[in-house]
Amino acid sequence: MLNACTTGEAATSNIAPLKSHIDFPLGICAMTAQMDDPQWKSMVATHFDRITPEWEMKMEYILQPDGSLRFDAPDRIVRQARLNRQTVFGHTLIWYAQDGEHFQKLKGDRAEFEIAYRAYISGVMNHYKGHVDGWDVVNEPIRDDGSDLRDCLWREVLGDAYIDIAYRAAHEADPACPLVLNDYNLEYYPAKRKRFLQLVEGMMTRGTPLHVLGTQTHIAADLPRGAITQTIRELAATGLKIHLSELDISLKEAAKNALDFRNYRDAQRALIEEAAEAYAALPSGQRFGLTIWGLRDKDSWYNRENRGVRPDEPLLFDDKGALKPLGQAFVKALG
Ligand code: G3I
Repeated sequence: MLNACTTGEAATSNIAPLKSHIDFPLGICAMTAQMDDPQWKSMVATHFDRITPEWEMKMEYILQPDGSLRFDAPDRIVRQARLNRQTVFGHTLIWYAQDGEHFQKLKGDRAEFEIAYRAYISGVMNHYKGHVDGWDVVNEPIRDDGSDLRDCLWREVLGDAYIDIAYRAAHEADPACPLVLNDYNLEYYPAKRKRFLQLVEGMMTRGTPLHVLGTQTHIAADLPRGAITQTIRELAATGLKIHLSELDISLKEAAKNALDFRNYRDAQRALIEEAAEAYAALPSGQRFGLTIWGLRDKDSWYNRENRGVRPDEPLLFDDKGALKPLGQAFVKALG
């Protein structure tokens, strides 16, 4: 059982590895900038089975303006994971948010564009073939209002088929690799969840290679109870595996000011218990894994740019590396 920790030093040494309580892969996101921090390195090696590169396996890092690919940073993450006997999850090949100069220059010629699109997917997949245990092939394809697929360069040039083309190219490059469709706010917006599931159903009907559904679960502490459970249930009804892929629970997004944090901590704990219990209740064959989007509060993307009056506290460990009551609740719910 976990003992409550008080100091940073004790924090990293006297609690059982979080992954030891769990019979499915427990993941964490990572970037090379964190890998020279001894506490971060030791805690990640101790507590997690799987690493998701937070940004360095994305087009924004890999694809150069001339179309060449660079892999130095993600390769470093893969090497470190292998040393820790951890797997690496590929995130992400095609995303509306990142398309790059190389593709913008080609958008006037559909045939050339598609050749480059397929080449990017196979180039990255072949580089990591045998070194990753899955790929978010397309990330965040659905509009938040659930009305349609999101507009993006890929859809503009290739049409709605950009999604099937990506999954088929990925499957050709690495037939053994689990291919994932990942999105966010599926628990907040039932209409978005419905449209996501319509896309999934269509892909399955067309025989598009798709093996896992990712629900990011970036939530705030004021999310109504039951939404996570309903979402996991509906996604699991497809029969595909489920990746709870980017879990964090913001206090700041819920609280109106720094004082309000106090009023949201119980709700935050209740939500992480709900997420853990709903995920653990899945049939074992459908549990692809659960990934936390950061190690300590200070590592969170929420605290990256402006930490503002008071930094957010969305993660399991505090800035000293101590397991917070939120982390204790997470482990207790899974234990
Ligand atoms: O560390 C470099 C720094 O050296 C450089 O000077 C600076 C300027 O280029 O960039 C810094 O890297 C930034 C990195 O975060 C680390 O802070 C990248 O520019 C920035 O693009 C990157 O943002 C990431 C974002 O996705 C876009 O890739 C966030 O870390 C990451 O948390 C966020 O994660 C997304 C998921 O992929 C999809 N779901 C939503 C989630 C949160 O937005």
